[in-house]
Amino acid sequence: MLSVANLNIKNKKVLIRVDYNVPINKGVIINDYRIKSSIETINYCLSQNCSVVLMSHLGRPIDNNDQYSLNPVLEYLEEYFNTYIHFSDDCISNESIEISNNLLPREIHLLENLRYYKQEINNDVSFAKKLSKHADVYICDSFGTSHRKHASNSAILSFFKYKSIGFLMSKELKYLKNNLSYKNLTIVIGGAKISSKLKMIKYFINNCRNIIIGGAMVFTILKSLNKKVGRSLVENDMLEESKEIFNKIKSSSTKLLLPDDIVCENDKSKKITLKNINDISDDEVGLDIGPETLIKYTHYIKNSDCIIWNGPMGKFEDLSFAVGTHTLSEVIANCGEHITTIIGGGDTVSAIEMTQSLDSFTHVSTGGGASLKLLSGEKLDFQNSWEEYE
Ligand code: 3PG
Repeated sequence: MLSVANLNIKNKKVLIRVDYNVPINKGVIINDYRIKSSIETINYCLSQNCSVVLMSHLGRPIDNNDQYSLNPVLEYLEEYFNTYIHFSDDCISNESIEISNNLLPREIHLLENLRYYKQEINNDVSFAKKLSKHADVYICDSFGTSHRKHASNSAILSFFKYKSIGFLMSKELKYLKNNLSYKNLTIVIGGAKISSKLKMIKYFINNCRNIIIGGAMVFTILKSLNKKVGRSLVENDMLEESKEIFNKIKSSSTKLLLPDDIVCENDKSKKITLKNINDISDDEVGLDIGPETLIKYTHYIKNSDCIIWNGPMGKFEDLSFAVGTHTLSEVIANCGEHITTIIGGGDTVSAIEMTQSLDSFTHVSTGGGASLKLLSGEKLDFQNSWEEYE
């Protein structure tokens, strides 16, 4: 896919698909990581004397509910760029297209939430055609939605002769694809459900040195091996598959690392105790990895040349069970520049951000589902669409 750096966009009108699907509470943006990640491409276009039209979705609105308006993002961008930014409350109205067509070089126009039209998620061709009227050049930089086949990143491609991907998209692809060349690659996988990470685990068997497991998915694996897990979260319909995976890793060149100790909460008394992994009692729920486990995991992490981390180590939303996730993020953040550190998006990023600056890692993905797809060795829908319309 062509990078924007290799396309002549000087003095052109560019339409950039960004992912401004950011958490907003009462009109206040709670996390601006995705917006900040789009700035490099926007600044580059402005430096090329382009006029810039930005389009994004926000949430999953069922109607034109104000709660899903991109207005807070408009305010953010106006403050960031310290300039007036045009805004259209309908992304395909004649008025909005006229504003885009009359933009002066270096002016910015933000379009309202694409998903106010259901045609966006239906990959509707006439909707995409109307969107394409906003500019002469199309740039896709919305990595977070690149596992979707929607009008603004799929059908729209057929209407542009000149198109490219932005700097964010290039960076995401660089770090989330083609990482198998590392000799000492360690994969850290966590989260509640093994079902959601199964493809990723399978992909890395025989393709990495170590797979470190944390989060509640540990208990599905343990139960599949007939170990006692008390009242811990288990995916009962995944037991057979978990056992299969466990045996597959055991007979592979990849080392599987499971916790030795677990922070448990008594289901009734709510008393918190540290337990050996073999001693979880019937009324206990495992909610975090323990200190011995952290020492073991740290050893393997420090002896790697690349770490890919996807999924928290425990119920980090509750500070009593966040120590495992936060300590691990500190270890990975400080493991030195000789180790490439790649963080998958979604929950992992929210957990890490509570204590670490995202700048401490080589790459922190802006995509949840999209990053998981690439880390499972799969192709993004956007990549397929690009090939189709090239
Ligand atoms: C995300 O938040 O993962 C992306 O913005 C995609 O949103 P979606 O899951 O609603 O398509």
